[in-house]
Amino acid sequence: MLSVLLILTAVAKVPTTLKPPREAGAALYQDNCWQCHGEHALGDGPLSPQIPSPPLAGRVERQDFDALVDIILHGAGPMPAYDPVLSTHNSRSILLWLEGLDPVTGLDPKAAGEPPEDEEEPPDEPAEPAQEPEAAGDDEEAAAPPE
Ligand code: HEC
Repeated sequence: MLSVLLILTAVAKVPTTLKPPREAGAALYQDNCWQCHGEHALGDGPLSPQIPSPPLAGRVERQDFDALVDIILHGAGPMPAYDPVLSTHNSRSILLWLEGLDPVTGLDPKAAGEPPEDEEEPPDEPAEPAQEPEAAGDDEEAAAPPE
């Protein structure tokens, strides 16, 4: 019984699908890029005082992706070359993620766990309260004799 459970647990941990590109890009960015470009890609990473690094959130455009992949893979100025660790495909995943970020906050509007504001409010209940505390006048308590 225990061994069956262990096997089931092991099988459950095997990823059955690849991460969607944006999600993969976010993870790659958090491994390789935030130190300069910032956690939210606003150009404010811990190395940015020494190595001024441009903000990237919401600032990469689809038509520039080829040129930007080239920068990522081969470096530019103080930016290191990432071709030993990243592929063209990986680089494009990062760019896809960066493209979708809010340029002001650097937040990902599509990320799970950050639902749009109206989803945080409780769902509308049908307007049928179980009790009507204000409805005095015709129940037993209100049936006391007049003074
Ligand atoms: C050591 C700091 C550093 C790291 C780490 C770094 N970058 Fe950069 N990046 C820079 C700097 C500095 C520039 C500006 C280069 C220049 O002067 O042309 C730059 C430029 C860029 C540009 C071009 C922006 C533009 O509009 O021209 C992109 C895209 C970019 N980086 C993406 C990344 C990605 C993706 C990673 C991680 C895989 C990364 N960078 C890691 C410092 C860094």
